[in-house]
Amino acid sequence: PSLASSAIDEFLGCLSADIPSRLIQTPATPSYSALLLSTAWNLRYILPDTSKPIGIIAATEHAHVQTTVRCGRRHGVRVRVRSGGHDYEGLSYASVHLHNQAFAVLDLAALRAIHVDQARAEAWVESGATVGELYYAVGAASRSLGFPAGSCPTMGIGGHLSGGGFGSLARKYGLSADNVLDAVVVDADGRLMNRSTMGEDLFWAICGGGGESFGVVLSWKVRLVPVPETVTVFSIIRSRNQSAIELITKWQEIAPVLPQNLYLRVLVLNQRATFQALFLGRCGCLHGLMQDRFPELGMTKQNCQEVSWVQSTVFFGFSTTSIPTEQLLNRSSNPRYYLKAKSDHVQEPIPRDVWESIWTAWLEKPEAALLMLDPYGGLMSSISPSKTPFPHRQGNLYQLQYYSFWYENGTAAAEKRMSWVRGLYKEMEPYVSKNPRAVYVNYRDLDLGTNELDGNVTSYEKARVWGEKYFKGNFKRLAAVKAMVDPDDFFKNEQSIPPLPAAK
Ligand code: FDA
Repeated sequence: PSLASSAIDEFLGCLSADIPSRLIQTPATPSYSALLLSTAWNLRYILPDTSKPIGIIAATEHAHVQTTVRCGRRHGVRVRVRSGGHDYEGLSYASVHLHNQAFAVLDLAALRAIHVDQARAEAWVESGATVGELYYAVGAASRSLGFPAGSCPTMGIGGHLSGGGFGSLARKYGLSADNVLDAVVVDADGRLMNRSTMGEDLFWAICGGGGESFGVVLSWKVRLVPVPETVTVFSIIRSRNQSAIELITKWQEIAPVLPQNLYLRVLVLNQRATFQALFLGRCGCLHGLMQDRFPELGMTKQNCQEVSWVQSTVFFGFSTTSIPTEQLLNRSSNPRYYLKAKSDHVQEPIPRDVWESIWTAWLEKPEAALLMLDPYGGLMSSISPSKTPFPHRQGNLYQLQYYSFWYENGTAAAEKRMSWVRGLYKEMEPYVSKNPRAVYVNYRDLDLGTNELDGNVTSYEKARVWGEKYFKGNFKRLAAVKAMVDPDDFFKNEQSIPPLPAAK
């Protein structure tokens, strides 16, 4: 790191005035590695050549976060914020591309209180809580309340809500970010603010504008949504000779226009397509609907599992309903792996012959990634694209994700997997959204471009290359908010939002 060691010492000294030393780990202290690795999800970003933080602050109080931001600013040390560590490109704990700058990690895992107000159907949740912990708390408070968020229970609330939060309730209730009512933020001056003191522009930006750029969100007040006491899930697997390709082709036209209370996604792995559903109702009704709308899938009542909504989150998190909901509380329930993902938005159904050739040329290769097809439509289509920074609303049929994960060490395995993902992504260009080729910010992808400096701050013009893919027309407004709340560009990473230059 380019920072003088005296500046690092001064930064650490500044921290120690307010933060107990046991909460500050440096490369010289015994728990540094364990803390760094505790939630570092992508093994690609903990390799020896990845630059490591000069310190990790395991905040246990809001004041620790304020102190870290103030000391970081005073002594020129960048702060990367980490809630659940699931960033696809390791941006919350590693720095690969950014001018080799010294940085510290502010780890929020210990700030994870959840308070559910059942009567008001609201909850306050701190950023370091996991999505699974929130699901569990909501389920424990009421069988008829839920919260719309993604499928992996170990994701952090902080990063997930910052970027959107898409999951099985999105067609009925939108994203997590669509259901945020208030938030507590530490800004670039170390001040603590809530919605009324931060103002609507900053509040808009933090609900979907991606993590890191605007401040540290400490906690979120969210709206809980009504769900039936009994919901139904199913998982139906089809191979190529069980018409998988015909079913996927048909699914593209059906899934986005199904009633809002039915979410039907497809996962393709090991040459099998798995159709997974959440229906906000009972099996009999779902069966009738499937017979009517998608008889080709051959769904029977035996496919149904009637469960509570919280148990349905176990189903999407662990692909089974037969483990207890307590598993949602297990912060290390999933194995870590090397990861590279890319994603697209599909606006016109992809023809069957294209699926045929993708299947043969790509999916039958041993290094093939998991494909995830996540339907839009329903409420997602009626929310205005500028209501939150997440712009992918009407006009999108589904999101297509190429998600490669592997366990083998070494560059050969990595090269093979990553070039598969990049190769298929290139091949798909004619069939997906254009101008821009749109991407969901929570599926962070540094191949789209990384920030460069323009003087002392991040270049707005250079950042548009990746920024408009994530945010389309909302990118400029995000940059304007950034210029207002963090003009010196303290909160910065490879794809943080740059301040809008005065002339724009
Ligand atoms: P992490 O802590 O790595 O933070 C992500 C980014 O946000 C970083 O830039 C970080 O600095 C910043 N940040 C974190 N906390 C912050 C805070 N409190 N204030 C300000 N900035 C903060 N998504 C989805 O929508 N639906 C899904 O079903 C899934 N499924 C899924 C499965 C798996 C296995 C992975 C690895 C990821 C997903 N995702 C997903 C993507 C996920 O939503 C995304 O990676 C989130 O940013 C993860 O949030 P964490 O807090 O865990 O990440």
